Amino acid sequence: MKRLSLGILGSGKGSNCRAILESIRSGTLAAEARVVISDVLDAPILEIAREFNVPNSYLPPGQFRTRLEPNVEMELVRMLRDAEVELVVLAGFMRVLKSPMLQAFPRRIINIHPSLLPKFPGLEAWRQALEAGETVTGCTVHYVDEKIDHGDIIAQRDVPVLPDDTADTLHARIQIAEHELYPAVIEKLCQENASRP
Ligand code: GRF
Repeated sequence: MKRLSLGILGSGKGSNCRAILESIRSGTLAAEARVVISDVLDAPILEIAREFNVPNSYLPPGQFRTRLEPNVEMELVRMLRDAEVELVVLAGFMRVLKSPMLQAFPRRIINIHPSLLPKFPGLEAWRQALEAGETVTGCTVHYVDEKIDHGDIIAQRDVPVLPDDTADTLHARIQIAEHELYPAVIEKLCQENASRP
């Protein structure tokens, strides 16, 4: 079966990237990680890429805090195209993508978010859920559009909020669910891609 080529973008610790790369290694995910790119020079996600022998790059983001400079975003498109990436996987990438990426990869960019969207978009979604008194939260995989943590939902997984949860314990439980959900969703997209004429 033809393997879907992935480009993984992240800014931080990379635990979702690790889960994806482990699923590929174990054979449960029929994809190929072509490149891992980070906007943070010393992000652990780049170290994880090296551990799995996946080509990896630091992309200096430019002068803005929440997005890439437009010329940098065009460079990102070039890097992903050069690597022949078919699906862009955001794994803790802390910058909002704009039209260069959205136009280059229409419905080909996915993200994972630690809440049951549309509830609690934005930062520290697990803390938002805890403070709102939710008894169930979870994680969502969705297509990326021009709005933050928005776009068509592909799949969600529920996670209970326990009475003695702190933000940290709840976040840890959500991440366990993320590590199962994200590779499973990508595998489903691989199968859909393979069955296309
Ligand atoms: C995850 O909680 C994900 O939902 C959010 O960013 C976090 C990334 O974690 N978008 P990691 O870097 O994959 O460990």
